[in-house]
Amino acid sequence: MPTKLQKLPNTVRGKDYIETKDWSVKEIELALKTAGELKKMFKKGKPHRYLPDKTVFLFFFDKSTRTRNSFEAGATQLGAHAHFISSETSQVAHGESPKDMGIILSSYGHAIAIRHDLVPGEGNSYMRRVADAATVPVLNMQCDIDHPFQVLADLMTIREEFGKNLRGKKIAVSWAYAPSYAKPMSVPQGLITLMPRFGLDVVLAHPPEYTLMKSEVEYAKKAAAENGTKFEIVDNMDEAFKDADIVYPKSWGIESLFHNPNEALEISKKYKDWICDERRMKLTKKNSIYMHCLPADRGYEVVDSVIDGPQSRVFPEAENRLHTAKAIMALTM
Ligand code: CP
Repeated sequence: MPTKLQKLPNTVRGKDYIETKDWSVKEIELALKTAGELKKMFKKGKPHRYLPDKTVFLFFFDKSTRTRNSFEAGATQLGAHAHFISSETSQVAHGESPKDMGIILSSYGHAIAIRHDLVPGEGNSYMRRVADAATVPVLNMQCDIDHPFQVLADLMTIREEFGKNLRGKKIAVSWAYAPSYAKPMSVPQGLITLMPRFGLDVVLAHPPEYTLMKSEVEYAKKAAAENGTKFEIVDNMDEAFKDADIVYPKSWGIESLFHNPNEALEISKKYKDWICDERRMKLTKKNSIYMHCLPADRGYEVVDSVIDGPQSRVFPEAENRLHTAKAIMALTM
């Protein structure tokens, strides 16, 4: 006989998850607690079909490995079906409106998840237009402003390492050089806006051209002030790494140049020395950890000996994408 599933609270049932800022600390705590419980059940092989016969639509305007697969596998494990849609093979490519899509997909299923992250000023507003029309929760699989599933998994990973009380711990969120493509700004923005609310002191480091969106920096400053944590911006990777407990060096693009990749690439070449290497890791605290949302440009953003070394937590971090995706789906759908 299968054991009866413990009922989940319904306090965020039907709620969109577009930015972590839209959720209170209490609601995010519930998501983390649920993710932890689902992780234990998954590890023990205990069935946890909280969403039998439900459907989540996964609407992608960009490529993905972790996000798509954590949602698809997670939905299956919850007893639901995740339905993949590419923007290029749907009528969105012919200009179908976000409003019509929100109304129609709401009538077919139980949540609409969207990744629309490539152009500053577009993805978040697109999702909010879908959400205005939808009658089911809209889940942000990464936009131009936030990557709320990634940073939730990051917070879960940091707590697994250091415990729930993160007061006095420092995270260095740093730009790093990568030649592959102009990566979205949403991960660093998601980190600087979420972590000060959960006790971490945040140092953001970037070359002068790589400023984050003003609204997100202002939010981070306010969140730090309200929560008794620190938020500081420096233009030096070494300074950010000094005495850090967590380092999160990754590349992102220049807000005004996402439409001009050649000019952006030329500027980035000035900063090839912004790499996470063993010398820089030595500047951090003894028990510090290295994190990256992945994919990483190995040999550019980070050397192999760090990403594959004892301080790296990139694989537990990627694994936690599964548990956090499941938690948000199970609680909201
Ligand atoms: N970190 C992350 O979102 O990975 P994908 O782009 O592969 O989904």
